[in-house]
Amino acid sequence: MSSKLAIAGGAPVRSHPFPPQNSIGEEERRAAAEVIDTGVLSKFLGTWSDEFYGGPRVRECESAFAQRLGARHAITVNSATTALQVAVAAAGVEPGDEVIVPPYTMSATAAAVLMNNAVPVFADIEDETYGLDPISVERSITPATRAIIAVHLFGHPARMRELKDLADRHGLAIIEDAAQSIGATVDGRQTGTIGNVGVLSLNRHKIIHCGEGGVLLTDDPDAARTCQLVRNHGEVVVEEAGVEDIANTLGSNYRMTEVEAAIATEQVKKLDGLLEVRRALAARLTGRLAELPGIAPATVAPGCSHSYYFYPIRYHADRFEGVSRAAVAAALRAEGVPVAEGYVKPIYLQPMYQRRIARGRRGCPWTCGHWQGEVSYEPGLCPVTERLWTHELLLADVCRIPLTEADVDDVADAFEKVLDDVDALRALEVA
Ligand SMILES: Cc1ncc(COP(=O)(O)O)c(C=O)c1O
Repeated sequence: MSSKLAIAGGAPVRSHPFPPQNSIGEEERRAAAEVIDTGVLSKFLGTWSDEFYGGPRVRECESAFAQRLGARHAITVNSATTALQVAVAAAGVEPGDEVIVPPYTMSATAAAVLMNNAVPVFADIEDETYGLDPISVERSITPATRAIIAVHLFGHPARMRELKDLADRHGLAIIEDAAQSIGATVDGRQTGTIGNVGVLSLNRHKIIHCGEGGVLLTDDPDAARTCQLVRNHGEVVVEEAGVEDIANTLGSNYRMTEVEAAIATEQVKKLDGLLEVRRALAARLTGRLAELPGIAPATVAPGCSHSYYFYPIRYHADRFEGVSRAAVAAALRAEGVPVAEGYVKPIYLQPMYQRRIARGRRGCPWTCGHWQGEVSYEPGLCPVTERLWTHELLLADVCRIPLTEADVDDVADAFEKVLDDVDALRALEVA
């Protein structure tokens, strides 16, 4: 392929946009309408009664998730963000504790720690899985460490065998942020069910969704009870519920509505079909991209399966005498293939961490008196993350419904065309 690059005035590989994801169909419409017809859109009561645990759709939804994912308990909430806050509480984290998190994730992963007045400590991720690097985690453990949050980034599982072994040896809890990885597995176990507490997201970008929503997964009955209490004003009911240890039961309203639960129940039935599409498209893209120089397609670590929330591609500028990732990404976009550069800024570089001001003006949780440790948020702290962010990683959202093999071939054709003519890009960069 050697036609003129679109960025230099040639015809683009693709002139029509990729269609948006939409997995909502007649089943969800019917399920939502049935709830609406009852006139009762949420059935939670924030007092000690049967309805403290929500209405019939919420309970049906929780059973469906528990069964499909293989967890003893599933607790629905209104987002993965709130689920993470609840999970940190349910893992027994207290003010002054440290929680090890990756910096390359959605901000909510680390914010959940701050919301519990605990201190996030950032360990680096590793190149192959994009999950926490167990060596960096081990180096980050101090006497104040209470838990680790493993994020299964882009839909690939983090190194759960090693992280679990580490957590067991040091007496730490593991929280899994499986917001992006529903259906991905490690040794046949579903991400979100391997650690002490796992979290799924059902926001509209995710593999299955209900608008906004989250699910907590756990096998531990005590953790499940804490999740149920924190979700629904736990402080009001602990007495009648006979809860002796009331630490971390202070609650809020994180409840899922009956409408969302009805939709989520239909969505989880579609999960396997949706994953099949993602994996088939990803296999095709990997096959095509593997033949191209200077880039590395997504890989899957032994014993794992990927759910391809995003399809990550590595760009090696040194193979092209310094033609930047930005130039390649711009050229791909001009060819009609949208790619994102570098995912998110490493979290420790955000102002909240740089200035150490989260709760109030006085610097809590770092200065609240409960925590006496030391933590670094300096640039350069996590070199793998920073390298991926600044110049190596490209992300494509093309392994999903309603895309077809022809769409994925357009992506591969655009990469082929652009990488075949990096000289033209170099000339444009110089100009
Ligand atoms: C890794 C990760 N964690 C947490 C969240 C928060 O999810 P939600 O939007 O359901 O609150 C997201 C959302 O994109 C995410 O990607």
